[in-house]
Amino acid sequence: MITIKNEAQIEGMRKAGKLLYEVLSTVRKAVVPGISTMELNDLAEKLIRDGGATPSFLGYEGYPASLCTSIDEVVVHGIPSEDTILQEGSLISMDCGLCLNGWQADSALTVGVGRISDRDRELIETTEACFFAGARQAVAGKRLGDIGSAVESLAHEHGFSVVRDLSGHGIGRDMHEDPYVYNFGFAGCGLPMRKGMTIAIEPMVCMGDWHVETDEEDGWCVRTRDGLKASHYEHTIAIFEDRLPEILTLPGFVWKEEE
Ligand code: MF3
Ligand code: CO
Repeated sequence: MITIKNEAQIEGMRKAGKLLYEVLSTVRKAVVPGISTMELNDLAEKLIRDGGATPSFLGYEGYPASLCTSIDEVVVHGIPSEDTILQEGSLISMDCGLCLNGWQADSALTVGVGRISDRDRELIETTEACFFAGARQAVAGKRLGDIGSAVESLAHEHGFSVVRDLSGHGIGRDMHEDPYVYNFGFAGCGLPMRKGMTIAIEPMVCMGDWHVETDEEDGWCVRTRDGLKASHYEHTIAIFEDRLPEILTLPGFVWKEEE
């Protein structure tokens, strides 16, 4: 079901989004060669609880942690472990969700561990730019295909591919609400957006081919089939009629005029 939020409800989501922004901002600073992904998870969980919220991922369909830590060829849903130690030159995506006073926030970002290659840096920056290109389309009256098409074309311009098996989603009182928000599609096609919709847009962009496989052992970890690196970037946003969306998990963000 698609739920439309009023201003008071969006204010609830804004508070959740702000807390999640603070959590991820602190956790990203802790990324250094030698730290384990479990330490990052524990830090995220502590900050969520200190903020009066609960970690949304923990226990979600049996997921065992509060943070997803996805390294290099792992696209999403990497499970943190004491034995997974960050190595210089890797890419790590950190995806986190929390629930504050009944409202969900969901956000992910990818950073380099120490020094990374120029092409890896381009992968991270393009994934972020894909999010903003898609989010710029998120205005009442436009369609979901406008978002997907904007994300996909920018990734292709840089010679990257976009994962097709996973998508963004509506979000509100539940972490995953309707509709699916695909990272590909046709401009002018798909569901028209409405004022008060809140969605998570989350491009997953690959260095090589977009095909992915889920780890059979843990049932979560999603890897590129070709073993090449991938990057993930996600924010929860609120859609309006007369202006560009508000990025709830990036408080203070102001849209610039398009060049
Ligand atoms: N953040 C993911 C999403 O954007 C959900 C993570 S699945 C979980 O949809 F199991 F880790 F919670
Ligand atoms: Co999400």
